[in-house]
Amino acid sequence: MSPLPRTVRIVEVGPRDGLQNEARAVSTEKKAEFIRLLVAAGLKDIEAASFVHPKWVPQLADAEQLIPRLESVQGVRYSALVPNMKGLERAISSGIRRIAVFTAASETFNRKNINMGIQESLEGFKPVADRALKEGMSVRGYVSTCFVCPYEGAVTKEKVAEVVGALLDLGADEVSIGDTIGAASPRDVEITCGHLIGQFPVEKLAMHFHDTYGMAVANVYQSLQMGFTIFDSSAGGLGGCPYAPGASGNLATEDLAYLLDRLGIHTGVSLKLLRQASRFIAEELAHELPSRVLRTS
Ligand code: HMG
Ligand code: MG
Repeated sequence: MSPLPRTVRIVEVGPRDGLQNEARAVSTEKKAEFIRLLVAAGLKDIEAASFVHPKWVPQLADAEQLIPRLESVQGVRYSALVPNMKGLERAISSGIRRIAVFTAASETFNRKNINMGIQESLEGFKPVADRALKEGMSVRGYVSTCFVCPYEGAVTKEKVAEVVGALLDLGADEVSIGDTIGAASPRDVEITCGHLIGQFPVEKLAMHFHDTYGMAVANVYQSLQMGFTIFDSSAGGLGGCPYAPGASGNLATEDLAYLLDRLGIHTGVSLKLLRQASRFIAEELAHELPSRVLRTS
């Protein structure tokens, strides 16, 4: 067990992972305001959009219009999902400087999600990452279904490590380990992540928990004890993946920030201002968000 870190970097994925799964579309203007409020709350790494096929995820079809509206703030970095070269071209023309390519540790999930096998997707990402890096952009990688696949069941730690290694080899500076359907427990995290940190620098790995079974905060605590310092979360606990049956929202940024605060770990996030951002988007979506901490005053 490592001592707990002094600082954690939160990657806010609410505007992307959150809004992609909402029935109600949010206007470009309101998305920009939501992101402005997230920045005001102290979030510095924000996944703002997705350049996937607009028919697959219509909620995020306005990525080209949204990115140019985002305020440029020193120390704040915006990113967007890119599944292929067409997505990269759209990302480049929007002006975004950081992209995230995404694949999975389960074949069936990857086919349902991006219509490609794992190897095929990695081969497709090679020219995408090369071109993005040549353009001076930075590249993040995601591996979905690192613990349980909604179609295939348990996923092996060896398969996860193989895909993580391939994404780092492509030039990703960080790879996010996804518990896509929120089914992992701290024991699973200990096994899979223990295997990963034996092979890759922990500073290059982020944890991405969904909260279906209410295990996300426990999984964060387990990861912190293993030396992880980068966590993805979404304001209010928005989110899910439309191609992962049963996936509910991400770990809520409020719940994560509260835990870290109580552990004396610095995040730079103001819970008070974060609640304002979450309440703003909850009003736009016309429903309450699942975060427990958000419901406290
Ligand atoms: P496809 O149908 O196989 O695409 O979809 P294709 O390459 O055969 O092209 C078909 C048509 O789509 C062509 O147009 C392309 O130009 C067009 P046509 O010639 O027929 O007129 N096209 C595009 N248009 C706009 N933007 C693009 C694009 N690409 C092709 N980027 C594709 C393949 C990957 C595009 C599709 O499957 C897709 O968009 N999937 C995205 C699914 C998605 O967004 N899922 C949620 C995000 S992942 C997630 O949430 C998990 C994560 O949070 C981590 C975790 O929790 O585990 C990251
Ligand atoms: Mg996700």
